[in-house]
Amino acid sequence: VMALCDLPAEFGIDNPAVTSAFPEDVVVRAREMRASMPSGTGAYTNSQGILEFRQDIADYITDRDEHVAYPANIFLTNGASAGIEMVLNGLISDDKDAIMIPIPQYPIYSALIGRLGARQIGYYLDEDLGWAVAKEELQTRLDDAKKQGLNVKALAMINPGNPTGQVLSRDDLEVICKFCAKNNIVLLADEVYQRNVYTEEKTFTSAKKIALETPGCECLQLVSFHSTSKGFIGECGRRGGYMELHHIDPYVQTQLYKLASSGLCSGVPGQIMTSLMVKPPLPCGESYDTFMKEEGEIYESLKRRAKILVDGLNSIDGIECVQAEGAMYAFPRITNFPEKAIVEAKAEGQSPDTLYALSLLEETGICVVPASGFGQAPGRIGFRTTFLPPEDKVIKAVGEFKRHHELFCNKYS
Ligand SMILES: Cc1ncc(COP(=O)(O)O)c(C=O)c1O
Repeated sequence: VMALCDLPAEFGIDNPAVTSAFPEDVVVRAREMRASMPSGTGAYTNSQGILEFRQDIADYITDRDEHVAYPANIFLTNGASAGIEMVLNGLISDDKDAIMIPIPQYPIYSALIGRLGARQIGYYLDEDLGWAVAKEELQTRLDDAKKQGLNVKALAMINPGNPTGQVLSRDDLEVICKFCAKNNIVLLADEVYQRNVYTEEKTFTSAKKIALETPGCECLQLVSFHSTSKGFIGECGRRGGYMELHHIDPYVQTQLYKLASSGLCSGVPGQIMTSLMVKPPLPCGESYDTFMKEEGEIYESLKRRAKILVDGLNSIDGIECVQAEGAMYAFPRITNFPEKAIVEAKAEGQSPDTLYALSLLEETGICVVPASGFGQAPGRIGFRTTFLPPEDKVIKAVGEFKRHHELFCNKYS
């Protein structure tokens, strides 16, 4: 579809030799999209994004949540990152402003908050409870922030989690939504992994659905983010995504529109990709079966890989890992980290998990991220890894994790 949107009509959509190479529903979709872009893919669009594509997103959200969504509240963005940056830009005005972020977190939050001169207030996810969020933890951190004279403006949550891989339960989500509503804190719901749920016991529930169905959340101000980078398409280079504003003051929404206008518009290929993500082939279309087969295979494989990786890590003496229910990552902790390695890391000015990650890289060629890069409870040592590589590589990696762990422990014992 993207190719047919891009090609000049006489070499593409109006050329039977070309269109005959595509399934009929692809050609129909490209025609529809081209009609929404009368100036082609090389022109600026509305700063919120092409209206018809925003309508596709609104339909997707309406279907997902069983509550009506409106194109006027949707902004197409260059990936979720651009949306998160825009909203933080709008929220932060001085160094007394603070944003609550989960620990561990995806580091875009700490980086942007730091760059915009605000303060980050970490709330710890509870590893022993499968990375759940405790109401008391949120309240304690908010009280601490207030004592420091800080003005907590927003709280970021990531569901399903990166780096932790948990899928938040309805109860968890209610706790967060009620907390934000009660304290007049804007909820930033990072839901880029909403399709990546592998456990039978849980399903993805959006923060917006909770906001609309939970007494006490009527006033919740919410911005949620989604992206073409994840799911089963993984089109991260297209830089597509959207944010949806819910219950945001119209004046604030206007200011966000101004911010979006200062960047003119998000990239058109990313906008096309986002529309394709939320409106995939229809059951009556020629490409439906191919699409479903491909998507199903990727989903089943990711599900298997998540289990292979986490079970494999848990089979190593001295490594513990919470099951990855969603997203694309495992976030194990090392429970028998040798004391001598801690001393050496300190002498070299490194965190212990950086020493471990570098040793793993040198010994096996496997690159993981030290857990300290995402934040973790004091004294915890671990790393983040992913189950994105092909299954045979994940199986091989598990063996290598084990071999390296034994070598590392022996070296420093
Ligand atoms: C939790 C989370 N949020 C946002 C992003 C950014 O995604 P995008 O490529 O859409 O900017 C990522 C990317 O890994 C992520 O893991």
